[in-house]
Amino acid sequence: FTGIARIPCVVHVVWNTATQNISQAQIDSQIDVLNRDFRATNSDIGIVPAAFTGLIADSRIEFYLATVDPNGNPTGGVTRTQTSTASFGTDDKVKKSSTGGIDPWPTDRYLNIWVCQLGGGLLGYAQFPGGPANTDGVVILHSGFGTNGTAAAPFDLGRTTTHEVGHYLNLFHIWGDDGSGCSGSDECADTPNAAGPNFGVPTFPHVTCSNGPNGDLFYDYMDYTDDRGMVMFTNDQATRMEACLDTVRTNLPT
Ligand code: ARG
Ligand code: ZN
Ligand code: CA
Repeated sequence: FTGIARIPCVVHVVWNTATQNISQAQIDSQIDVLNRDFRATNSDIGIVPAAFTGLIADSRIEFYLATVDPNGNPTGGVTRTQTSTASFGTDDKVKKSSTGGIDPWPTDRYLNIWVCQLGGGLLGYAQFPGGPANTDGVVILHSGFGTNGTAAAPFDLGRTTTHEVGHYLNLFHIWGDDGSGCSGSDECADTPNAAGPNFGVPTFPHVTCSNGPNGDLFYDYMDYTDDRGMVMFTNDQATRMEACLDTVRTNLPT
């Protein structure tokens, strides 16, 4: 794409208890986070040490709640569905009305974001580009979504959705998904080769896989740190996301 890619989103709130029926303000706060994080206008970007600031990218991707529904009618870009399912998992049941969730809007034209209760400590999960249409999108735990309402520390800055949308746009974890080895790759040349995921808020530098003196890029959204520790995408990550929007997901931006 040239200029800015603007992606229409639909948020499917699937709730069992009334608390899980999150507010419009919580939804709006998440869209705001996505727009700041993907344009590198997030106010916490200053925690990146000078050694890594040259890698910071503005992906030129923006997000908005859909204004036209699949039937061509005006919409707020939010659906609300009561379910008898107490907790969902990674089996995609939340993505089908016949299994306690709600079907997606056409996945070639909308980024579908399901928000619900998840079990097993799961914060969210995503489908990579090229997968089945009827399950395409991201699923986010309600208490890891947005910055207010039910959002709970240390995952209350909206970064779970930033991370999952990164996967949705073809980004891999920065440690290469090889356990704690040094042979996996995220296919981005500018992210240092790293062993395994980082958690919490690590102290700079964390050297692994002979990546000294600066070590792992644990400030990246595609690591596993707490929300306040992940603040950037790199230039090569932005290039991969742009390539995805120019090919597999070409009908998405408006
Ligand atoms: N898929 C990861 C999980 O469920 C998401 C990690 C997001 N990390 C974060 N700090 N929000 O564990
Ligand atoms: Zn991930
Ligand atoms: Ca690795």
